[in-house]
Amino acid sequence: MRKKVIAGNWKMNMDMNDTVALISELKNEIRNKNLNASVIVCPPFTNLDTASALIKDSSIKLGAQNMYFEENGAFTGEISPSMLKSVGCEFVILGHSERRTIFGESDQVINKKIKTAVKHGLKPIFCIGETLEEREGGITFKVIEKQISNGLEGLSGTDLAELIVAYEPVWAIGTGRNATPRQAQEVHQFIRGLIAGQLSQSFADQLVIQYGGSVKADNASDLLSQSDIDGALVGGACLKADSFIKIVEAA
Ligand code: PGA
Repeated sequence: MRKKVIAGNWKMNMDMNDTVALISELKNEIRNKNLNASVIVCPPFTNLDTASALIKDSSIKLGAQNMYFEENGAFTGEISPSMLKSVGCEFVILGHSERRTIFGESDQVINKKIKTAVKHGLKPIFCIGETLEEREGGITFKVIEKQISNGLEGLSGTDLAELIVAYEPVWAIGTGRNATPRQAQEVHQFIRGLIAGQLSQSFADQLVIQYGGSVKADNASDLLSQSDIDGALVGGACLKADSFIKIVEAA
């Protein structure tokens, strides 16, 4: 039985004051509830340290939204895996579609990042997903297959023991138009099958595959009740404690 994992991707939102307020609210809400799901928050880099201190006495876990694949050196503006570890990050989102499209990250760059992350003991939340054009062109599975085989190239089941995959159809991100539970389940099942082929069936059986893309309080239950949907990567709806907690409760 896979435990559900709900992660909040804050993106480039929430300054220091907002961060303190939101984490405090989340802590209060979570303390009074008997939740079955794991909860991860992924604030911007500048607020990771503060968030880390605030969640210390709670069950909330910390993730970053990105990192560079080098260990240190002359890479102005970049953040290394050991920097993330040093402020208490356990997870790191890699390959988000906004990184791929706005910042030009290729499968190869993402693969290097996953390799560096696991080497430093960071757990990757590896994002994949097709664009609307690709879905309408009937090549969703082909796109997913390529993203997975390139992204995880050269990595073993041992390397990836703590991997989380997030299926995020690009057309569903921030659009208010989520994949239907059936559409999402179909791709999640396909992903699990691919991973079984690439690594092993037992690895695939324990792999957490999150769905992301316009997850809200009112569609979370239907999505999360699908057999291969093990959690959610939440953008817009994670910026308010009440909507985020409702998704956690649905899980
Ligand atoms: P959204 O974003 O929930 O706002 O669609 C999800 C994501 O980009 O991870």
